Amino acid sequence: MNHLLWRSATAIEGDEPGDAIMEFMTGEDVILDRVLFPHDLRATVAHVRGLQRIGILTREDSERLCSLLDELRGDFFAGRFILDRRFEDGHSAIEAYLHDKSGDLGDRVHTGRSRNDQVAVATRLFMRERVQEIATLSGAIAQACLEQARVHADWPMPGYTHLQRAVPSSIGLWLGSFAEAFCDDVAFACSVLEILDASPLGTAAGYGVNLPLDRAGVATELGFTRLQINPMAVQNARGKFELMSLQAALHPMQDLRRLAWDLSLFATAEFAFVRLPPQYITGSSIMPNKANPDVVELLRARTASIEGALVEVQSILSLPSGYHRDLQLSKAPLVRGLQFARQALAIVPELIRSLAFDPERMRNAITPDMFATDIALERAAAGAPFREAYHQAKNELANLPPRDAEHSLAQRVSPGACGDLQLEQIGARLESMISCIPETSGEGG
Ligand code: ARG
Repeated sequence: MNHLLWRSATAIEGDEPGDAIMEFMTGEDVILDRVLFPHDLRATVAHVRGLQRIGILTREDSERLCSLLDELRGDFFAGRFILDRRFEDGHSAIEAYLHDKSGDLGDRVHTGRSRNDQVAVATRLFMRERVQEIATLSGAIAQACLEQARVHADWPMPGYTHLQRAVPSSIGLWLGSFAEAFCDDVAFACSVLEILDASPLGTAAGYGVNLPLDRAGVATELGFTRLQINPMAVQNARGKFELMSLQAALHPMQDLRRLAWDLSLFATAEFAFVRLPPQYITGSSIMPNKANPDVVELLRARTASIEGALVEVQSILSLPSGYHRDLQLSKAPLVRGLQFARQALAIVPELIRSLAFDPERMRNAITPDMFATDIALERAAAGAPFREAYHQAKNELANLPPRDAEHSLAQRVSPGACGDLQLEQIGARLESMISCIPETSGEGG
């Protein structure tokens, strides 16, 4: 295969860019295209079949092209075809391969399409797959939190505001809060998936083509329920949809950051409410006594990678309408951001399931003054003006007798509070959210 021909296939003849310029324009991008490549191949098959349906390709030609594309897919996954800097990008690599194997026939594949809609459809399929995974992982984390919340529903622990002891709380309330938060993240990811569920293919460079492309048939073949109709809207969505996908990753990562913070705090000798299992702990190279919560700390810090990716894409999106090569640079933050989120979220359900709690430490941290709010409200319920009851309880703070934490939790009957956690309701919503996550095609591996 004359790869150099394909590296410069789109260059102005006689003025091919030199190596340094080529490396600058495409160096990292073609490597990132490895992630999009299986999706690009799948979309190319759909495009070829669409061309056949409108009579641009014969059945025979279309079948030959599809079987070559299948062969390329096999070669790619088996490592016999390497997508590297010999090619300008994954899109030209497909055309180069087909040309190499079938000459003129291969040259027909690009009829009616542009690399702009090729990258749009490949990225769209990639984002759908990854956001589906994020929804599924968020659901699995919510389930693990809910399980632990159920098992330890009435175990007392201190509730904090400002990191100061506030009122008696429970593991059920603490972990139930994460179950509900991650359930919201499933819902958010599903709403992003609904927006992503529109085929951009068949809009060419952003202005359509003078061919009656079977866009609807191609969309159905690719598993999209509708078309993204306007060709310019397709180009202008590049980067915006990347942001939405990264946001679908950001929300569970932010919840995870909070959970990781809680865990790192509660695992200290000062609190010692929670024991992290040994596989999540590392020692120190100099201090023989150390057992550090490195995994939890890295989970906490990983959120920064997603935030950074969002800012990077946002900064690129200061553009007029239509395609601009700037948009290519949204690929790296998208791919890395979603990869980091997937990697982090995937290890969380097991971590949550393996947490061990120390009920004595938690109970001992509930001091008598923490019942002051209960006392004030009991008096208010008995008829005292609340402000008066508040001041009375405040004056008695130093002398409040110890109270039973379980009793206090059981009395906290405002809906959602410790005496009425409604974990079943949270679980029912979670199940229904999880059942709404669309199936992944598993294309990208
Ligand atoms: N690598 C390019 C990108 O990601 C592919 C599209 C190239 N299109 C073009 N008109 N130069 O944006």
